[in-house]
Amino acid sequence: MAAIERVFSGVQPTGNLHLGNYLGAIVNFVKLQNTHNCIYCVVDLHAITVWQDPVELTRNIREVTAAFIASGIDPKKHIVFNQSQVAEHAELAWVLNCVARLGWLNRMTQFKEKAGKDRENASVGLYAYPNLMAADILVYRATHVPVGEDQKQHLELARDIAQKFNNDFADSIRAHGLEEKFFPQPEPLITGPATRVMSLRDGAKKMSKSDPSDYSRINLSDEADAIAQKVRKAKTDPEPLPSEEKGLEARPEADNLVGIYAALSGRSKADVLRDFGGGQFSSFKSALVDLSVDKLGPIGAEMKRLTQDPGYVDAVLVDGADRARAIAAETMHAVKDIVGFIRKK
Ligand code: AMP
Ligand code: TRP
Repeated sequence: MAAIERVFSGVQPTGNLHLGNYLGAIVNFVKLQNTHNCIYCVVDLHAITVWQDPVELTRNIREVTAAFIASGIDPKKHIVFNQSQVAEHAELAWVLNCVARLGWLNRMTQFKEKAGKDRENASVGLYAYPNLMAADILVYRATHVPVGEDQKQHLELARDIAQKFNNDFADSIRAHGLEEKFFPQPEPLITGPATRVMSLRDGAKKMSKSDPSDYSRINLSDEADAIAQKVRKAKTDPEPLPSEEKGLEARPEADNLVGIYAALSGRSKADVLRDFGGGQFSSFKSALVDLSVDKLGPIGAEMKRLTQDPGYVDAVLVDGADRARAIAAETMHAVKDIVGFIRKK
């Protein structure tokens, strides 16, 4: 198994796919197709770490898949599938559960946020979630992982797990004639002007699928009218826009909207401020409405069309899973040999 550059990333099918998912992650997934072999996964096993209604879950798996395709991911050239169809993810996760240390997981801020005050009542899966994420990446021995800023800590953990596995089993890896760095160190790719898109109602809060206010986010499935309304109602401050990026400091709402404009138009924030600096929010917001509708409208429409054809979407996932499994099985065979399990050869 030669070391090749491979991209892996995942998105949870938990509803309300939004502009943060798009700009923080999916836009970069699309770009990386030109330079890398890419595997994009709808992580349904991660989704059930908090309760999901089964009918909704099925719908959401198809919706994320549709969003990938509508955004420009090519499921023929690359791989698109849902996690639960490739058993090797869960299988490797178990081995990694036995490599990762409790102390490492105890530091994970996302668990603390999601479990909240009622930690005793959180699922064991929610706690072990980062180990499954490490397994997702390592089972393909992926080298690059495009994600939003909020996943940085999980990526660091995946790197620690990979290194500990390589160290703990160094002798066995050598004895089996495998590469010394059996699991490569996955590199996070956190790029673009919108790696952390904030809520439209509160510049201190991340845009999130679970925010009770739908006005806090632009959903990829929103129609033009809804997009326009949400942008117009977005929280701002009374000052005109600054002419330079420095002027966005301590102005989280302004910074967020300029970042969104920059990311949607493929420009830098500095560049956007050269056009809009000194102007009022009202005219900037009008331009942002036009840009958002222009960029997101066709994606939403294509998503709608695709979700009306579940047969096609499901076939994409089955085909992707078959191709993913072939790679994952090869890694898992080697892992079994390394750990000392007996298997059919
Ligand atoms: P999730 O919805 O948690 O599965 O996230 C899918 C991808 O979207 C991950 O790479 C996240 O880091 C990214 N993401 C989620 N929310 C945001 C946000 N508000 N801003 C930027 N990226 C985000
Ligand atoms: N935990 C990620 C999120 O919530 C989703 C995810 C699961 C993922 N497995 C992954 C992202 C592997 C990158 C690589 O956003």
